[in-house]
Amino acid sequence: MRKLLLLLMVGLISVSTFAAEKIEISFLVGSTGHDVTAAQRAADMYMEKNPNVKVKVIAGPKNTTDILGLLLQNFEAKSADIDVFNGDVIWPGDLSEHCLSLNKYMTKDEIAAYNPGVILNNTSKGELKAIPLFIDVPMLYYRTDLLKKYGYSNPPETWKEMEEMAKKIQDGEREAGNRDFCGFVWQGDAYEGLTCDALEWIASNDGGTIVEPDGKVSIANANAIEALDSASKWPGTISPKGVLGFNEEASRAVWQAGNAAFMRNWPYAYALGEADDSVIKGKFDFTTLPKGKGKSSCSIGGWEIFVSKYTDVPEEAVKFAKFAAGYEVQKMRVIDYGWLPAYMSVYDDPDVAKNAFVKQMGPIVANGVARPSTVTAPNYAEVSRIFFTTVHKVISGEISAKRGAKEMAVKIKKMM
Ligand code: GLC
Repeated sequence: MRKLLLLLMVGLISVSTFAAEKIEISFLVGSTGHDVTAAQRAADMYMEKNPNVKVKVIAGPKNTTDILGLLLQNFEAKSADIDVFNGDVIWPGDLSEHCLSLNKYMTKDEIAAYNPGVILNNTSKGELKAIPLFIDVPMLYYRTDLLKKYGYSNPPETWKEMEEMAKKIQDGEREAGNRDFCGFVWQGDAYEGLTCDALEWIASNDGGTIVEPDGKVSIANANAIEALDSASKWPGTISPKGVLGFNEEASRAVWQAGNAAFMRNWPYAYALGEADDSVIKGKFDFTTLPKGKGKSSCSIGGWEIFVSKYTDVPEEAVKFAKFAAGYEVQKMRVIDYGWLPAYMSVYDDPDVAKNAFVKQMGPIVANGVARPSTVTAPNYAEVSRIFFTTVHKVISGEISAKRGAKEMAVKIKKMM
């Protein structure tokens, strides 16, 4: 009996020592659409293969500007609370000093498996700071049933056409009894999302990209002013006034309730709109964003996996990051949720190659335009803040587009 007890105790001790030895990795992700679900699936897949590791998924804020704020607080304290995190494509330059350099953990071939443009974007002073997870480019979502009902055979190609169609459909639907119906929803809150939307109006009107690749601050030009001025008329006409407080999920809520003719949003909204419980399932399609006097311009977004420099478990954290941005996970993410892979051979996977959504995204990706995050690093977040706060004043009707453009040019020049 005593022998049995002793054995049991030894067993218990070794089980608890083993449990205590589990390596914990905390993984911060955003909370837009399927973000947390997909991250948890990647974590579960990893833990199944690595029973000595516990990955804790932390659901961060929805809006990218707020996630950045949370991370900066964390870095300021040099805290090891976040080991690995999903970060925005615009951050590698700004956050470089707080993130592990990955070159010594990845072979040249491992790095070469990813989209070279994104690898370049994620490289700061010659060091790879993040592993590419997915490529994001926005689209114009439109209601096929309503376009047909109001006599349109094709989606709009210009912002002007979109305005006219949105107005006609909005008037008709409201008259038919849906008082909540609106023509166009987008991202008008004062945050990074508005930087993307406004850059698209401006670039597609041949108005440049705020700061050009050679460092020239170009925002105060006539085409940019014209584009901002046109968009400033949308809130309260074809868009609800509330759009001035909308992020991606707020616009999707209106769209997915069946209350908008058009929506500017990222690919993540597609699978959600096509879900079985969605009232717009089968009633919408998407195309490239409309244009002004230039060509359709879609802000290049995307998310990367970073490892914090303040982690206590760098080796294990990088190992997990590599898995979470690896082939298997990127394949799952595109097939089940519609996030475009940055791991290039995933596109050749027969299951992905035959995917109609991925095919339809091709021409839209080709219209991608980059935000000036590389040229302004490590101050991109500040440049963008000046831009989106001023644009927000313009679209709220507080100041004219002309005054806004001049004001931001002065502020951005001073800051750089
Ligand atoms: C999406 C994009 C990201 C962008 C953000 C703006 O998440 O992937 O790059 O900054 O939207 O809200």
